[in-house]
Amino acid sequence: MADLSVNIGKLQMKNPVMTASGTFGYGEEFADFIDITRIGGIIVKGTTLHKREGNPYPRMAETPSGMLNAVGLQNKGVKYFSDHIYPRIKDIQTHMIVNVSGSAIEDYVKTAEIINELDKIPAIELNISCPNVKQGGMAFGVTTKGVSEVVQAVRSAYKKTLIVKLSPNVTDIAEMARAAEANGADSVSLINTLLGMAIDAERRRPILSTVTGGMSGAAVKPIALRMVWQVAKAVNIPVIGLGGIMNWKDAVEFMLAGASAVQIGTANFIDPAITIKVMDGINDYLERHGCKSVSEIIGALEV
Ligand SMILES: Cc1cc2nc3c(=O)[nH]c(=O)nc-3n(C[C@H](O)[C@H](O)[C@H](O)COP(=O)(O)O)c2cc1C
Repeated sequence: MADLSVNIGKLQMKNPVMTASGTFGYGEEFADFIDITRIGGIIVKGTTLHKREGNPYPRMAETPSGMLNAVGLQNKGVKYFSDHIYPRIKDIQTHMIVNVSGSAIEDYVKTAEIINELDKIPAIELNISCPNVKQGGMAFGVTTKGVSEVVQAVRSAYKKTLIVKLSPNVTDIAEMARAAEANGADSVSLINTLLGMAIDAERRRPILSTVTGGMSGAAVKPIALRMVWQVAKAVNIPVIGLGGIMNWKDAVEFMLAGASAVQIGTANFIDPAITIKVMDGINDYLERHGCKSVSEIIGALEV
């Protein structure tokens, strides 16, 4: 076995494979299929200060080599999470990381403060692709001002590892990553979903109830890979790469582009054992290439 361990901020992970928020529930749902304790880190569903019902149906659409979703952060709120879900998942022997979402800066801060008190949650991932209700619904993550304000506010409230998840719906993602780093992020993860749309021509109606939605899956990989490569060159904090990773080869490509770890999202819907297969595939790749440690391939792309 090669040494697969990597560090993300203070987080020491046994391997670089994580699950992406919203695609792996709270982990427990997959325990009948795989040994979830083998996974490097599980990022749970987007959690908000208050309960959210999510968007009306239909909120999923299949697209060529991908999908659109408009789930709308359906969850029971952070209080329910800490009272009812945390006690169930806290002893799972991997890093359980909470994805924090919000529609105002104060909501992010309060949610982060509550999670800061939960001993067995070593990190949060800040989803800054959410619309800022006070700023007319523009996402926090699409301007450097928005990124700086939300990251700075959460940083002063949250003491453990802070991962900031970047939106790809921007002109210059490196600029957003630098703003996150400058305001205290320990790591950045990217990409969140790309804004997309699907139309039913016969009915002359949009397929999603929200008209537009977030695109993910194999089709987004080249964009995600390009953005990870740009961001890895722009910041000194570890980068977590995701977007369209369907197999171990995709994961290795993200690591060569500069990702210290990867997340798997949509692929979990196709194969619930994909995380384990990716992990084993990375190990085989390292052995075939004579690498003792996964760190040898991080950013090893020759351009
Ligand atoms: C059904 C669904 C729900 C998602 N929910 C969240 C969420 O709550 N918070 C978040 O930051 N990202 C969420 N995402 C985005 C994924 O975590 C990931 O960034 C994106 O799907 C790209 O990775 P993939 O192509 O491997 O799926 C969701 C994606 C899907 C498909």
